[in-house]
Amino acid sequence: PIEQRVEDLLKQMTLEEKVGQLNQYSGKAVTGPVSEVKTNLINDIKSGWVGSMLNVKGVKDTREIQSVALQSRLKIPLLFSLDVIHGYKTVFPIPLAEAASWDLEAIRLSSHIAAKEAAAAGIHWTFAPMVDISRDPRWGRVMEGAGEDTYLGSLIGAARVKGFQGEKLGATDAVMACAKHFAAYGAAQGGRDYNTVDMSLQTLHETFLPPFKAAVDAGVATFMNSFNTLNGIPATGNSYLQRDILKGKWDYKGFVVSDWGSIGEMIAHGFAKDNAEAALKAITAGSDMDMESRAYKQALVKLVKEGKVKEELVDDAVRRILYKKFEMGLFDDPYRFSDLKREQKVLNDPQHRLIARDVAQKSIVLLKNENNVLPLNKKAKTISVIGPLAKAKRDLDGSWTVAPDTTLTVSLFEGIRQKVDKKTNVLYAKGCDVQGNSLTGFEEAVRTAQQADVVVLAVGETWDLSGEAKSRTNIDLPGVQQELFTALKATGKPIVVVMMAGRPLVFDQIADNAPAILYAWWLGSEAGNAIANVLFGDYNPSGKLPMTFPRNVGQIPLSYNYYNTGRPVLNENNIIYRSAYIDAPNTPKYAFGYGLSYTTFGYSDLNISKPQMSANEKLEVSFTLTNTGKVAGEEVVQLYLHDKVASLARPLKELKDFRKVMLKPGEKKTITFTIDKEKLSFFNNELQWVAEPGEFKVMLGTASNDIKLEGNFTLL
Ligand code: IFM
Repeated sequence: PIEQRVEDLLKQMTLEEKVGQLNQYSGKAVTGPVSEVKTNLINDIKSGWVGSMLNVKGVKDTREIQSVALQSRLKIPLLFSLDVIHGYKTVFPIPLAEAASWDLEAIRLSSHIAAKEAAAAGIHWTFAPMVDISRDPRWGRVMEGAGEDTYLGSLIGAARVKGFQGEKLGATDAVMACAKHFAAYGAAQGGRDYNTVDMSLQTLHETFLPPFKAAVDAGVATFMNSFNTLNGIPATGNSYLQRDILKGKWDYKGFVVSDWGSIGEMIAHGFAKDNAEAALKAITAGSDMDMESRAYKQALVKLVKEGKVKEELVDDAVRRILYKKFEMGLFDDPYRFSDLKREQKVLNDPQHRLIARDVAQKSIVLLKNENNVLPLNKKAKTISVIGPLAKAKRDLDGSWTVAPDTTLTVSLFEGIRQKVDKKTNVLYAKGCDVQGNSLTGFEEAVRTAQQADVVVLAVGETWDLSGEAKSRTNIDLPGVQQELFTALKATGKPIVVVMMAGRPLVFDQIADNAPAILYAWWLGSEAGNAIANVLFGDYNPSGKLPMTFPRNVGQIPLSYNYYNTGRPVLNENNIIYRSAYIDAPNTPKYAFGYGLSYTTFGYSDLNISKPQMSANEKLEVSFTLTNTGKVAGEEVVQLYLHDKVASLARPLKELKDFRKVMLKPGEKKTITFTIDKEKLSFFNNELQWVAEPGEFKVMLGTASNDIKLEGNFTLL
């Protein structure tokens, strides 16, 4: 058994070799500030000071570096890790986009293909999924998560873990996953990256921790802690998070890697005076591997020798890491992920592009479609594709790409050109840049629009405007892109706006005046084809927003599951002494769960199986869903609950279940949801997970702000 092999090896290791396993070094590429502690990579690997590398990829390079590790005394192989967030060579939609698909199987598959490609290129371990809940679109990293909701985020996190890790750890078509960033990183104050987090334990347990627990239950191999402090204690040095909850209550057996330099950063936080104290606090708190701080390398041996850190603590961390190396099969064949032929074959598998296209089209959200402007006619005489992102490729891949061939990314212009009739003229004008004030391209853009039957306007963010360290105080559509829209609108031509971005943006002029809007995020390699499929009706859009779109930055943080307050707004025309803003409504521009289709759905015949249930019983909520339109389409039916009176005030709505259902025109289906105690529970003031007796409201809808059916039942 692996346990025995780990113990046998551990017995042979010197203290230095043990500490060596806890160090992770970056290759040439950097994804964080470079450490001031200078080390010699090759020498350190040879002498057993490195347990893992990040930012080295490809069979050739990983082989070369692995061969150095095999020259060390105990020949312990390295683990190669990389941020494979949404694809390796084939770029899939950014995670926030995929969350809009509400399609767990498509998300699992996208993660699996990403893992398959990475594993064929020498990678053992991805730093994904990011399961941080966030309700602040100023935070650039929202692009990397599943949005604002804990329930949806937990299911998506689990699907990604299963996708990345495949059937069994060690298979050469899968990699180890990493649930990050433990914990509460998505609640950085003001949406500023790496910023302080201060929150109640109740909120921590109820909103921010469940996606991590779901990852544990899905078998996630590793965890990454986070940069932020949580109620004053850096997550990296936080025993409550890592020892009490993760390795204690949840009995987690995998290992925890620090975030880049986050052990050393405890000095800047004012939580440790030097690297030695930082190392002491981190290992004590349960951080097993030091990514790029060099604090363990510098201080841990001495700390043990001085009796300040017990060797058992180091042993525990080493055991966890060695266990994963055995599980991945690296002791049996350190090069098993580094096969040149497999790399060639897997990275060029045409099937991967089709899978990317499928999930990309499922991720698109139709925000508006007045008078059924969409779908467009493939035989139109002239279509003008205008805007700074109309021919973009790199931008559509988004941030956190690792090995894409950007030239192979399909631009929107190309997608449209390939889709329409050969005789259709497809014209192009850039109009303006994404950022900047120059209007010089407007004239040409207007001329190009005038020649068209319909204009497709591609605007949004360049790839470097959302992502790590890309927080913004202003989330308006950048530059003069809205002004470009207004200039084009004056031509009187119908305009379909395609918005490509890494986060929810504010774009009132377009939202209020464009007849049709598709929110297409950053969709990756197949973006152009996927968007064209939706524009021309080959795919009926089914995406629903996984995050609230505020009206303006002042409303943030804003999410659908808000509390009533003691003075709720009952009537928008009378807000005096009410919980309101005097300059904007409380409601969002686009709500969580919102998204249109080319068809319509009817909700009828609500049936709640019984008026009351006891805690050990279950209750069924069913209704009839009908496709009332003219084309086949998918609806994401959402079930929300409200606990009307409880020992703690509860949100007015909480997503507790959903179903994505495909119906032909005229087709009906009975949809049934089961309500059990689990769905009615919350963390009370004593942090106990309880379902309190009383009345609950159940709501079924097509969006969090568009409830079609509702009823009540009582928990006895
Ligand atoms: O995995 C990332 C993490 O999410 C943010 N800091 C850098 C790490 C490694 O690149």
